[in-house]
Amino acid sequence: MQVIVLATQKGGSGKSTLARSIAAEMTGRGRVAMLDLDPQGSLTKWWQRREADDLQLVTGLTRADQIAKAVDTLREQGFDWLIIDTPGARDEATRIALHSADLVLVPVHPSQDDLDAVGPTVAEIKEAGAEFIFVLSRTTRARIVDEVGRLLAAHGRVAPALIGARVAHGEAATRGLTAAEAGNAAASEEVRALVDYVTKELA
Ligand SMILES: Nc1ncnc2c1ncn2[C@@H]1O[C@H](COP(=O)(O)OP(=O)(O)OP(=O)(O)O)[C@@H](O)[C@H]1O
Ligand SMILES: [Mg+2]
Repeated sequence: MQVIVLATQKGGSGKSTLARSIAAEMTGRGRVAMLDLDPQGSLTKWWQRREADDLQLVTGLTRADQIAKAVDTLREQGFDWLIIDTPGARDEATRIALHSADLVLVPVHPSQDDLDAVGPTVAEIKEAGAEFIFVLSRTTRARIVDEVGRLLAAHGRVAPALIGARVAHGEAATRGLTAAEAGNAAASEEVRALVDYVTKELA
């Protein structure tokens, strides 16, 4: 089982949206479980609205030992992928998740505020000894996207696949779907390209 953690200390950068998109895309490639470590429970509420039962969800865990045990159990149960969503702030649950990660995806919305949060996020990930990749998220055609991409490249790998700003992500979520599942071809293509890249990096 490979563990992918969505983490950044910047709230609203697209962690939960990306976690759902990646998890749903991966259902076509293996058995997928998700772990919601955010007390806000965005991922959990989305999962509850979802009709398909193609994704296993573990939620409501706060203690470090419970979280570590849940990861072990999912591994024993033979899941191929575990996608972990974390809150937008440093906490003990996130630390445990980072320690169990095969790869951390750090969504960065191209803005100064998101950039400011990159330093502490990267420090936390490095402290856990985890591999990480930046994912430009909620991008527009603005020049700042290239600029932020260049700045990030000085700190680590940047996924070549961008996740564009599309209303379809939020709309689909109200029905427990992803933008791709709701038929948004552009979002579907972006997520597929990102998952292709991520799986190749993990191979
Ligand atoms: N690619 C996108 N295009 C358009 N809107 C997006 C995209 N990704 C996320 N959003 C929207 O931005 C908001 C924040 O996204 P999301 O909840 O995924 O961020 P988060 O990092 O999980 O936030 P938090 O730190 O609060 O958990 C949501 O309203 C979501 O619908
Ligand atoms: Mg979230």
